[in-house]
Amino acid sequence: MSRSIQTLNEVAIGDKPADLILEDCSLVNVYSREIMPGTQISISHDRIAYVGPDASHTKGKKTVVINLKKKYVTPGFADPHIHLDQFVSPVEFVKKSLLCGVTSLFSDPIDIVSTCGYRGFKEFVKMTSELPARFFHVVPGGVPVDKKFSHGREVSLAEAKLALKIPGVLGLGEVFSWAKVTKRDPKTMRMLSTMLENDCVINGHTAGASGKKLNAYVSSGILSCHEPINFDQVLERLRLGMWIMIREGSIRRDLKDIVKLVLSNKTYIDRLMFCSDGLDPSDIIKFGHIDHCIRESVKLGLNQIDAISMASKNCFDYYNMGKDLGGIAPGKLADILVFDDLDKMKPRKIFVGGKLVVSNGTIVSKIKKYTVPKWMTKTVNLRKLSGDDFRVKSRGDTATVNVINLKTEIITEKINENLSVKEGNVVPSIDKDVWKVAAFDRTFGTRKHTIGFLKNFGAKIGAFASTWNFHENNMLVIGSNEKDMAIAANRLVDTQGGMVVVSEGKTLASMPLQISGIVSTNSFEKVSENFENLNTVLADAGCVFKKPHLIPLFLPFLALPDIRILSTGLVDVKNRSFLSVVT
Ligand SMILES: [Fe+2]
Repeated sequence: MSRSIQTLNEVAIGDKPADLILEDCSLVNVYSREIMPGTQISISHDRIAYVGPDASHTKGKKTVVINLKKKYVTPGFADPHIHLDQFVSPVEFVKKSLLCGVTSLFSDPIDIVSTCGYRGFKEFVKMTSELPARFFHVVPGGVPVDKKFSHGREVSLAEAKLALKIPGVLGLGEVFSWAKVTKRDPKTMRMLSTMLENDCVINGHTAGASGKKLNAYVSSGILSCHEPINFDQVLERLRLGMWIMIREGSIRRDLKDIVKLVLSNKTYIDRLMFCSDGLDPSDIIKFGHIDHCIRESVKLGLNQIDAISMASKNCFDYYNMGKDLGGIAPGKLADILVFDDLDKMKPRKIFVGGKLVVSNGTIVSKIKKYTVPKWMTKTVNLRKLSGDDFRVKSRGDTATVNVINLKTEIITEKINENLSVKEGNVVPSIDKDVWKVAAFDRTFGTRKHTIGFLKNFGAKIGAFASTWNFHENNMLVIGSNEKDMAIAANRLVDTQGGMVVVSEGKTLASMPLQISGIVSTNSFEKVSENFENLNTVLADAGCVFKKPHLIPLFLPFLALPDIRILSTGLVDVKNRSFLSVVT
């Protein structure tokens, strides 16, 4: 982020005219924590030169003057931790998040890396480079979760060093295998040391860590966490010098519980931020983004300016970018939101780097279409499957099998069930709500696959297949019969990724995700429609969960207990061991 202090100095003092003056602003000052009516702001090129009661000395013949008529102005909001490689492309996502006042997004593209490696990371960064918001990226720090089971692609140390030279790449993404840190896994320690030597930020993920283990994690240079789900966890981390991102997104909503106790305990808020950790198309339409976090916190009693500071200044301070961004003051980049009122928090105008990108609540900046390279849309490397590929062999008339029981879309437990064996194949039982579930390697062409059983799915359909699952990106197929399971899988091979629901050979719902099998090239509206339809079809068919699309997303996710399925096998997460399907 280059700056000419010479020019800014000249404009501030009145020796050179400003390009733009915003007059009669009610400035929300996140530094002094006050609202300053009648403020004038002078902007030169992309930065603020002057903030004060009278900017007339910065006015020249060509200076554009906008009278904001007492409207509130705040710094642009930031989402300090978001997985943008989900559902829609950044080009489409920004059209919604920008209107929520989010001018900076800190992306952690784990799933693009797990399918496309460092090449995918570079391309994803490129994808975000010419959009009307700021995109920063971290090198995914957590893949593969555990090499014994997971085979996803990763960014090597040499590649990470190269990545740090790319503008906008800030450091290392959530290091979610904290055991690798506390056990000083040599590769992990080398990566952490490299980041620290380069003065880079390392994002944390400390779910379940406390006491000496948490101390070891923090002492290794990892200073943030977005995993606290209650106030005690927030406080333990704050006391160790960590920064907390309060998560309010599609996977979890932790804001309500945490903010209430932040208030009653009068907790120091300068190290608190809001983050989404990822938003699905329905949620961003229904709730909004970081604007929603401000509204909700204020409803709970948080001071409006404190909430705005947590959504802006604190994020940039955490990322060591406070000298450039986070508030409205001389020298800062001119990322400015203009509001009619601070209750609705819907910006009327938005400036990013002094350029008007939103006017009257509509994006006025041209959004360039991005052409995705072909290799990134050809990632489902799987031969055509037949019903026989989904057989589970066993002798006798019945078999006892280890089953993944869904407690929620995300949480599982291991149970046993007795199932019938027909012609040497263990069959699912709709009466018992036991379904087949399959995981295929779709990245490396190894033909590795596991066929197991799933209970409590409930949706009476033929098959539900998906190429997107957190950090593994296997082809996951859930089904009541092998024939439909093969058809669903083959549809995704044909379309090169997405989610599909099939019954008796017919497609009931689909959501194409052509980029790496995890992100769509379609418009936000189209993806949103597909997403709603897919979940509705599954719910109407009997699925008891609100968001059935999450089931294949989490089934191979090794960071959560109890039992998971990957192409490499059925995994007992706690004991870190493979389980046989038939006992
Ligand atoms: Fe995350």
